[in-house]
This record gives sequence, C-alpha cells and structure tokens, in this order.
Amino acid sequence: MSRTVPIPQGLPMERDAGPFAPPRDISRLREARPVSPMVFPDGHEGWLVTGYDAVRRLMADTRFSSRQDIGILHVPYETPGMPAPTEPSPQIPGVFIAMDPPDHTRLRRRLTGAFTVKRMKQLEEHISDIAERQLDELARLAPPVDLVKEFALPVPSLVICALLGVPYADRETFQVNSAKFLEKDVSLEEKMAAYTGLTTYLAELVTRKRAAPGEDILSDLARQDDLTIEELTGAAFLLLLAGHETTANMLALGTFALLEHPEQLAELRADPDLMPGAVEELLRYLSIADIFYRYATEDIELGGEIINKGSTVVVSLLAANHDPQRFDNPDTLDIHRTARGHLSFGHGIHQCLGQQLARIEMRAGFEGLLRRFPTLELAIPAAEVKLKTDMNIYGVHALPVTWTETAR
Ligand code: HEM
Repeated sequence: MSRTVPIPQGLPMERDAGPFAPPRDISRLREARPVSPMVFPDGHEGWLVTGYDAVRRLMADTRFSSRQDIGILHVPYETPGMPAPTEPSPQIPGVFIAMDPPDHTRLRRRLTGAFTVKRMKQLEEHISDIAERQLDELARLAPPVDLVKEFALPVPSLVICALLGVPYADRETFQVNSAKFLEKDVSLEEKMAAYTGLTTYLAELVTRKRAAPGEDILSDLARQDDLTIEELTGAAFLLLLAGHETTANMLALGTFALLEHPEQLAELRADPDLMPGAVEELLRYLSIADIFYRYATEDIELGGEIINKGSTVVVSLLAANHDPQRFDNPDTLDIHRTARGHLSFGHGIHQCLGQQLARIEMRAGFEGLLRRFPTLELAIPAAEVKLKTDMNIYGVHALPVTWTETAR
C-alpha cells in the first residue's frame, strides 16, 4: 500500500469531484491509506476511516464508543474553542444514538417493535396516501416550484408526525430548529439554542402524552413508567430529527440525481419494479448521512493500523460506499446494480432504526412523483442547484423544478 498521500489536516469536505462523488482528497486517501491518521484543526490527532471493509468492521465493533456528543450535536472539532475530548462524553438522556450498551440496548429495545419490517408493511398504504395527497397539492401549483418545500420535506415530516403523534401544525418549530441544528458553521451557542428550542417543545408534548396517552409511538413510550420525561424527550428529539431530515434530503437529492441521469429515469418510469433496487442504489450513491464519530475505548487494530485508546475516529460512509474494492465503478449511478451491503444506514448495533420506514417513503415518493409528473425537469441549470455542503446531512437547499403536464 502506498503511503504517499499526506496526512489530512482537517476533514476534506469540498465537493470538487461533482455534486455526488466524494471529495477528491477523500478518494485519494481511501486508495492510499483507508485507515489514516488525521490532524484536527485544534492540533489534536485522530483517525479518518474511508475504506469499506474498515468502516464496516469499525461500526460492528462496540469497543469504538458512540459516546461522542459532537456526533449527535454535530459540532465538529473544526468549531473554534471546541476542546478535544479525552474521555467519552456524558450521555444526553434518551438520545441512544450516542450511547453504548447497556444503556443503548435498554432504550433501543423499547422501539424496535414499532419499526419492524412487518409493522412498516402495514403502514405502506397510509404512507402512499400521504405521498399522493402531497402530489395532488404539488400538481395544483404553477411551476416552477421548489420540490424541497412542496414535496421532499412535507412527506417525511407528515409521516413521522403521524407515527410519533407530533402535531404537524407545529412543524415550524421543529423544521427550523432541526435545520439550524444541522448547520455546520454555527456557534455552539446557536446549536444549543436550537437544541433547547426543540427539546422544550418536545418535553411539553411528552408530558401531555404521559398524562393522556394516545395511539402513537411517543404515547407508547410515555406509558412506560420507568422512562423519565428527560429520556422521553431525548428519544422524541432523536426520532423526530432522524425521521424527517434524512428522508427529505434523499427525496430531493435523489430526484436531482435521477434528473441528471435521464436514461435511467426513463427506465424507472417505464418499469416501477426497478424501484426497490433503484432506491438502494440511490442510498449508496448519495450517502447523505456521511460523517460519524467514534471514540476508541482501548487500543484497537484496524486495517493494519493501531488506533490508540482515547482516539477520536471519523468515519466517512460516503467514502466507504464509493470504495472500488467493494462496488465496481462506484462513482457511477447504476440502478441495475446490486447495491445491497451499502453502509448508508450504518452497520452494527446502531444501524438505522428507521430504515424500513425510509425505504417505504422513498419508494412511494419517487414512484408517485415520476408517475404524476412525466415531464418533470429542472427549472435552473444543474450547476446552479444549491448543495448542502454547509450541513451535516447532505442534500439540496432547494430544487426548482418545472413540468408541462401531469398524470394520475
Ligand atoms: C441511525 C441513516 C432515516 C431513525 C442511523 C445511522 C445512519 C442512519 C447512518 C447510524 C448512526 C450511527 O451508527 O451512529 C439514515 C438515512 C435515512 C434514515 C440515510 C434516510 C434515508 C431514518 C428514519 C428514522 C431514523 C426515517 C425514523 C425513525 C434513526 C435512529 C437511529 C438511526 C433512531 C439511531 C439508532 C441507534 O443508535 O440504535 N440512521 N437514517 N432514521 N436512525 Fe436513521
């Protein structure tokens, strides 16, 4: 293995290889040294893992702790004044994505029943109805319109609100605060303000549900007396944030990617049976949730390197999903490939709880959109689409689209 690539100083983030491919420095690094030291801007050393095999092994290994509050608060070490942690972060009650066993197991177990494949299959029709109603509204508008605002964001927001029992009328509160929370270059104070805004709202909501539970996932949690209000609030925060921002970005960026690949778009329109495979490939190709942090709780060998106890480890799922050792021509979108095995939902004990829900939303969303808008196209040049390079979940800020006809 060549060792000629310099150790990265900070995380290479610039999308200099196009809107969908990993940054060039990341691809070079993966080839030269898939488990590489990196230096954070505050000067402390950590590791950057970019190779598919190494990322998969790392995510399956619980010696790499998820207790990195920067992971959940998404405050990168790049943030000036952010000290390098020297031990696992204190846990935020209920936010089990940033916990290790047994705390993680205890909380996640309460929710697995609500998100099984079987349970999600039962919801399929309801989710298709939500998508269709939103498409009805879209069809009533005079193009050009912003697909993010009118379709990609509303559909998953409506779905997660219905599931959790969060009034959709309150969406301003959680959409604005979630977006602020996911912005990269905001100060710690601003992040905390957004976090507090969201959790204050959710604490009131779960307190009401504890007093008078209804038929929804948060009420089911609230019925469990051994969970505190803080834990209910944390879990609600995690589910609401993870439940709408991710899928919304997949729907919008996925539509952009398909519009940029018109032959494959035409095939998909002609044969909706291709949809499940296309969704997996879009998940792999776009890897919208890219960067995750872990913390080594002991000295661990990974990909021929020794990661010392106490090191911060940065994982790039985008790099792993574009590893040519695992996927042929990885930077090419190919809806016919078998993208199974991609790491876009993570791997191991933290693997995405909402993945079946997300799949159903994407299948219904893309299928409906392509069927109802047979002449859908970008309303601006592709180079002018504003990419979310400034956010912790990738996507587009807006997707202006137009059409000349609609169908049922
Ligand atoms: C965890 C991606 C949709 C809820 C994760 C992880 C990834 C991910 C990569 C692993 C994080 C880690 O290992 O630290 C995605 C993508 C989505 C999506 C790409 C959409 C396309 C959803 C939805 C929900 C959801 C719709 C709704 C409930 C969660 C939760 C976790 C999680 C609760 C934490 C699981 C744990 O720590 O055990 N997601 N997600 N996600 N996701 Fe998703």
